[in-house]
Amino acid sequence: MARATFGWMASWVAALGFELAMAGSATAADGNGLDVRLSAALYAAGFTGRVEESLPRRLGRPVNRQLADLGRLLWFDKSGGLHSDNTCGGCHSPATGFGDSQSMAIGIQNNNLVGPHRAGPRNQRRTPAAVNVAFYPRLMWNGRFASLSGDPFDNSAGFSFPPPEGTTRFGPNDPIITHLLIAQAHMPPTELVEVAGFTGTRGTIGPEFDPFDDGLGSVVPPPDASGYRNEPIRQAVLERLNSTPAYRQKFGALFPSVAAGGPIDFSMFSRAIAEFEFTLVFADAPIDRFARGETGAMSEAQKRGALIFFGKGNCVACHAVAGQSNEMFSDFRNHVIGVPQVAPAFGVGRGNVIFDGPGRNEDFGLEQVTGNPADRYKFRSSPLRNAALQVAFFHNGAFTRLEDAIRHHLDVARSVRDYDPITAGLDNDLTLAIGPMAPVLARLDPLLATPLELRPDEFRDLLIFVRDGLLDERARRENLCKLVPRSVPSGFTVLQFERCPAREREDH
Ligand code: HEC
Ligand code: HEC
Repeated sequence: MARATFGWMASWVAALGFELAMAGSATAADGNGLDVRLSAALYAAGFTGRVEESLPRRLGRPVNRQLADLGRLLWFDKSGGLHSDNTCGGCHSPATGFGDSQSMAIGIQNNNLVGPHRAGPRNQRRTPAAVNVAFYPRLMWNGRFASLSGDPFDNSAGFSFPPPEGTTRFGPNDPIITHLLIAQAHMPPTELVEVAGFTGTRGTIGPEFDPFDDGLGSVVPPPDASGYRNEPIRQAVLERLNSTPAYRQKFGALFPSVAAGGPIDFSMFSRAIAEFEFTLVFADAPIDRFARGETGAMSEAQKRGALIFFGKGNCVACHAVAGQSNEMFSDFRNHVIGVPQVAPAFGVGRGNVIFDGPGRNEDFGLEQVTGNPADRYKFRSSPLRNAALQVAFFHNGAFTRLEDAIRHHLDVARSVRDYDPITAGLDNDLTLAIGPMAPVLARLDPLLATPLELRPDEFRDLLIFVRDGLLDERARRENLCKLVPRSVPSGFTVLQFERCPAREREDH
């Protein structure tokens, strides 16, 4: 009902916008009627520029600053990693919009640096930005963590994760796991390659390594009777938190049961992390201000680029803004767009995930979760807000320049044919195990099958729109580095952020 009304309104408003556009072009009141044409395009696409302000309403309460600040400390504290060498911030860095500082994430056994000189075994994919994730109905590169209601703020249908969590661990109407991010925060500490740690005594590659022995004399708890590995890891993390007096005090100030002597439990950890993520909503870009009527918020080039994005370029077909996409520039569905297949070089210390395919240099994407070969090479349309802050693009960081990532879409076959990981700007270890492309191109999404011709000036405008029109200045390094604490409750050394000078940090 509400939807039908909205649809009717949208077409009415679009028609009105169209009339205005005609009037505008007749008088040329605003440079060829750009403003009216763009307003009409945004109405038609369902874009309002008001998603950020919906946060407290959809949460049903204001953000709890004290809980968020505890989440911030946990984000940067290696105490959540069983071997004390990595934490969320090691991959989701405030210097790069809370996304990766690398083309492909480096997790455990890193050199304590975050930035261009981070080193250690590679995982499988690039770390996506944790900014604005509060609005994502499906998380991860293949959308495998999902709110079944289609709304991350609504758990009435439960949250679905791959096994062992499945659909029951964070089931419908759980009174505590009320947002998809609270469920999600249960996962990273259990990821062996990201945070928990392991290294077989027999090397890091190959099916023979023992994931429960890190070769350092410490042993990850074995699966319990049901083969359920994740829960024992969580318990081990909790033991660390519960034996840290500073954490007992900080959780106690927020949770009466802890103050009364009870244990810190994992949902408390996850609520703190999610609350911190709620403070990382930066969705007030020039395009939002324009949509709210501030026509001067965008440059003419941005406006022309936006018209290509929503029009001739048809980017909005996948980078959607309407309905459940929450104006995040993603349909949160999976597509094959023919991204060059990049994998770490083979050998000890080079990578710690076994890649797909006979050459162990492929990523099957959605198929990894569904088991359906028709889903091979499918990845979630990337939300595009604040893309300008990223140092690499696509699920594997195959490109390091935004213009290359956009140009790839225009003529995928040519992009693949011309692809050279060295000129694309990749680190050496990612240039040596390029995967096959013929099977990927054979599955290319029909929407990208025909090359899109753009004049050089049109391409430039499109780039300027994606780079500047979708950027919220608050997400810049200059504004976020201050979130890195000088010290953390566990007393572990804080990771060193190469692009966050110490003086930009807050005193803690
Ligand atoms: C080793 C690097 C690494 C660490 C450490 C890490 N992440 Fe991630 N994170 C990733 C990668 C890589 C992905 C995407 C993985 C995939 O889709 O297969 C991701 C995905 C996510 C997403 C989903 C983003 C999206 O666009 O859907 C969220 C939210 C997130 N991580 C939060 C966290 C939190 C909270 C922590 C700490 C408790 C954490 N991460 C620790 C690398 C990391
Ligand atoms: C068929 C659906 C589809 C269309 C149409 C499409 N994209 Fe994409 N786009 C994707 C998918 C899927 C990804 C992520 C692919 C991956 O990482 O493997 C992506 C990734 C991107 C990225 C990289 C973002 C990041 O974080 O890595 C940019 C930039 C981008 N698209 C811009 C555009 C522009 C501009 C257009 C219009 C010219 C466009 N896209 C059209 C599906 C699409």
